[in-house]
Amino acid sequence: MSKKVLILGGAGFIGFNVAKYLAKNRDYQLTIADNFMKKNRDAEFDSLVKDYNIHLIEADFSQAEAYDLLDNAYDQVYMMAALVGVDNANSMPHEVIRINTALTLFTLEWIRRSKIGKVVFASTSENYAGTVDTFGYAIPTPEEVPLTIKDIAHPRFTYAVTKILGESGFLNYAKMLGFETTIIRYHNVFGPRMGFNHVIPHLVIRFRNGENPYKIYGHDQTRDFCYITDAVEGTVLSMETAGTNGQIYHLGTGVEITIEELTRATGEMMGFAGEYTNAPTYPGSVSRRSPDITKSKKDLNFTAKVNWKDGLKETVEWYNAYFDAGKTVPHQIVFQ
Ligand SMILES: NC(=O)c1ccc[n+]([C@@H]2O[C@H](COP(=O)([O-])OP(=O)(O)OC[C@H]3O[C@@H](n4cnc5c(N)ncnc54)[C@H](O)[C@@H]3O)[C@@H](O)[C@H]2O)c1
Repeated sequence: MSKKVLILGGAGFIGFNVAKYLAKNRDYQLTIADNFMKKNRDAEFDSLVKDYNIHLIEADFSQAEAYDLLDNAYDQVYMMAALVGVDNANSMPHEVIRINTALTLFTLEWIRRSKIGKVVFASTSENYAGTVDTFGYAIPTPEEVPLTIKDIAHPRFTYAVTKILGESGFLNYAKMLGFETTIIRYHNVFGPRMGFNHVIPHLVIRFRNGENPYKIYGHDQTRDFCYITDAVEGTVLSMETAGTNGQIYHLGTGVEITIEELTRATGEMMGFAGEYTNAPTYPGSVSRRSPDITKSKKDLNFTAKVNWKDGLKETVEWYNAYFDAGKTVPHQIVFQ
């Protein structure tokens, strides 16, 4: 019998790719729920929905009534919906709090009155970034690190505040209500169709705009860039692997890249022949971030396969083709 799966936020970058993977590779009966707030309903999305007979529910799930549109039984729920991004947090922190808190609370309360097998909750490395910076915790950083909000009044931390609530909410409701849950913390997932509020599309747009000298914001900061196909595999493994109930997993590659390396590699792919100059980055942006992936390797048998430069090439080509076709950024973006 096929498994009944709900992807909440399934039009988003990761959710859509999880849907694509499940639709093509396995025996699942898929429902995608999303409000297309990112203006991300495109031809590729519509053809996936049509070709694989995916049930689509368009509604704002920060409103309690939207949950009446869902069935009351699913074997698996991927909880991907959120208002994401540093610039969103900086420009509308109250909306990040409202939307992400409502999504968590209403989903949990809907589960209380439904029959749900397992939920995978999409969380973030932002939850522990403050711990590493403030208290000097180990890098690469394992899952059991305490979570820290470095400055409770600063808008950029609203996102992590809501994701910490999400982790605690799913772990504790699961125990009390008897469904299974696994938390995954993504680390800079990237790839084609990732939206425009991310470092790589920002870099591409700025190269296309002819910036020279080209500023490298936070040149010596490091991140772990995980290509989308690897992130999808880790996500599905965290859902499908037995014995992972109540566990948290860091999904990443284990390879630490500086922003300078990323910028220069992107510039090379864009044929940039100008000068580079270093510039300061966002306040509150952590200097090093790298996950310890020992646990996900051991429990999930997860290893990222795509080299970051190969993934970057695919991504840069996708964005260049997008803009070469005369398409524009579908919504307002804020550059750092
Ligand atoms: N991409 C990353 O590197 C990364 C890193 C850490 C955590 N995450 C988490 O993973 C999840 C997926 O990330 P993503 O990059 O695909 O983000 P995304 O913004 O592309 O996808 C989120 C989706 O949720 C939908 N959504 C938002 N509010 C909604 C609402 N009220 N009702 C219905 N749908 C709503 C959006 O329309 C969007 O399609 C998010 O929860 C995010 O916080 C992502």
